[in-house]
Amino acid sequence: MGTDVLLTGRLLDFTADPFTAPWQDCCVIEEDGALLVKGGKIAARGPADTLRAAHPDVREISYGDALILPGFVDAHVHFPQTAMIASWGKRLIDWLNTYTFPEEMRFADPAYAAEIAARYLDLTTAHGTTSMVSFCTIHPASVDAFFTEAQARGQRVIAGKTCMDRNAPDGLRDTAQSAYDDSKALLEKWHGVDRISYAITPRFSPTSTPDQLSAMGALWAEHPDCLMQTHLSEQVDEVEWVKGLFPDARDYLDTYEAHGLLGANGLYGHSIHLEPREKDRLREVGAALVHCPTSNTFIGSGLFDMAGLKADGHRIGLATDTGGGSDFSMLRTMGAAYEVAQLRGTALHPAQLLWLATAGSASAIGMVDRIGTLAPGTEADVVVLDLASTPAIAQRSSRANDLWEAVFPTIMMGDDRAVRAVWIGGRPALG
Ligand code: GUN
Ligand code: ZN
Repeated sequence: MGTDVLLTGRLLDFTADPFTAPWQDCCVIEEDGALLVKGGKIAARGPADTLRAAHPDVREISYGDALILPGFVDAHVHFPQTAMIASWGKRLIDWLNTYTFPEEMRFADPAYAAEIAARYLDLTTAHGTTSMVSFCTIHPASVDAFFTEAQARGQRVIAGKTCMDRNAPDGLRDTAQSAYDDSKALLEKWHGVDRISYAITPRFSPTSTPDQLSAMGALWAEHPDCLMQTHLSEQVDEVEWVKGLFPDARDYLDTYEAHGLLGANGLYGHSIHLEPREKDRLREVGAALVHCPTSNTFIGSGLFDMAGLKADGHRIGLATDTGGGSDFSMLRTMGAAYEVAQLRGTALHPAQLLWLATAGSASAIGMVDRIGTLAPGTEADVVVLDLASTPAIAQRSSRANDLWEAVFPTIMMGDDRAVRAVWIGGRPALG
């Protein structure tokens, strides 16, 4: 359950969405602040002097002028793609066939799955990410490997068996029935155990027959509290392919909607090339879109319309999309989200970027009551950022006039060297 400890430093977190209200009204900044961590949870937050005086027997760990934030929440990753991240020269369909599917084939070996799960969680912890929503492979053992490793580390994670019964190579296809049976067995085994949740996971419409999509929809209807994750309208070629595979569908989203795979607990990765009807339906049902900016530029997918979709009231999370995304770091991901928005004519405020990487992603996955903030009563997942981690960053942040100017150089230029400490479930995980 972790030890009782007082973490002191500069605190920042969010109580509301800075896309829907002025950012000043959405954040809590405590320049000389403290977090009381007890029994794996945040027991209190406030001025360091006050909490120190109230809890004189609790050990204090002082982080000085480093920034204490909620641990980063990555709303869409493929942990099995860890070892093939940054693979050169392809667009989505070729990239899947050339790099992704051969790598995912290796997860037939449970020992390899366990090795990569541990490596992935080591790397993401080093980058300050404490929770993520991951695709696994078609192999049930890949789900067991990921959950077993996360459980040992006390992490809140969400994942599911990736289901594919067509347009994938031999050895990487299940069937409608086996996808249903295996997903159900994994869900019953893991959902709600410790900090683990199961997500029903059809990869995307091109790799599932209508029968398989229906089977996934039926499983979701039986377990509506589970998240369902998939991909939507990532590349123009993919959208055309879907039209050919589903000639009766009104659009890409309709291939999910017609099979019971559209709902408020649905997570739709990428969602770049959306038709007006798709946007309307996603908003009406309260589904969550997941922005994957390093992936969208790396694979050449397109520019997500953050400002337009947020203005329309969509729920949106932020994600690396490891390993289509080109970095494990949510700092780099926030930087890329800033750059993509600039290309669309909007400058996202650092408060909006940090909200997306913490409370925003936690809200998108329906868990902001447990993770993504520093609110008392929530789980003690914390990242501590050094805002002067390299000479290049230090010389810029030393000129800062306020906290936002101090943190923005780390968002744009920071990497794992900026991560001074990580706490997961009230226990030290790094630093
Ligand atoms: N669409 C279907 N599968 C994938 C995947 O593994 N990565 C990305 N970026 N897009 C996908
Ligand atoms: Zn993905």
